[in-house]
Amino acid sequence: MEANRVNEMLSVAEAAAFAAGAWTGKGQKDRADAAAVEAMRDRFNEMSFSGRIVIGEGERDEAPMLYIGEEVGGAREDGEEIDIAVDPLEGTNLCAFAQPNALAVLAYAPRGALLYAPDTYMEKIAAGPAARDAIDIDATPAENVTRVAAALGKNAEDLVVCVLERERHEEMIAAIRAAGARVRLITDGDVFGSVATAIEGTGIDLYMGSGGAPEGVLAATAMKCVGGGFMGRFRFRNDEERARAEKTSGVDIDGVLAMDDLVRSDEAVFIATGVTDGEMVRGVRGVYGNGRAHSVIMDCRTKTVRFVETIYRGDGEGTFALS
Ligand code: FBP
Repeated sequence: MEANRVNEMLSVAEAAAFAAGAWTGKGQKDRADAAAVEAMRDRFNEMSFSGRIVIGEGERDEAPMLYIGEEVGGAREDGEEIDIAVDPLEGTNLCAFAQPNALAVLAYAPRGALLYAPDTYMEKIAAGPAARDAIDIDATPAENVTRVAAALGKNAEDLVVCVLERERHEEMIAAIRAAGARVRLITDGDVFGSVATAIEGTGIDLYMGSGGAPEGVLAATAMKCVGGGFMGRFRFRNDEERARAEKTSGVDIDGVLAMDDLVRSDEAVFIATGVTDGEMVRGVRGVYGNGRAHSVIMDCRTKTVRFVETIYRGDGEGTFALS
């Protein structure tokens, strides 16, 4: 894929983060999300590629912008063909209530490489590179705790497992604690929860639990880029979701989804820009064009992870200092 694409795509995630950031703490998650979606879509359409949204804001009849199947990019006839997964504001409540780790997220890969995941749930497990072979979605929480602790050379007592705080996870949380490990509950944002397992400073060793399937594809892309581990399995809430998955995903919808089922390419790239401050990246300050954004870029092709701080210099007063 084109070399400068990553910089362009970074600016897309940054634009979404700045747009959502303006709504931080204002208690209006839908407005924050809409602002991020619009900014992301506008930036995509200024770029010279032929993009297709495979993970987006929902089905065509539900979402006016960045719906699944929407074509984006300014060179739809003859540009490079790529598939794009987006979550313009991952953690709408985190942004609305100024909580940590709200992110603007996107991933892209050659056409056909990213799984079309319908808007259903996915059971997920993720760990960083050192424990990637230790995780097993079919094993019990206690078994996963023991194996991951061994792989990381830790005692179970020192292992931190991140879990979304939901009633459906109560049994699993009890089992993790019974196995001796600690549970870090998050109220939202399981892309962060999964990816954090690969980033030492976050203190998170293992992610387990069910959340959005689209978020699962985004997290799997990141984990593939960093050499970590991720496994998923759809969890349908009704027959309609099951039928949708059957039609679009092209995989065994009841089976275990390995990273390579979710991301079928070694040329994928994952980008997340901070909306609110968090352990992985800091939140935006200022506005697009005159502000500061902090992002992480995980690139499967170059096997690199870059933390990038962009300062948009603006002009005149209010320019952000280069420090
Ligand atoms: P939004 O950004 O759409 O609000 O989603 C946040 C999130 O917490 C995801 O990170 C997670 O995968 C999903 O919601 C969990 O869904 P639910 O709230 O239904 O348990």
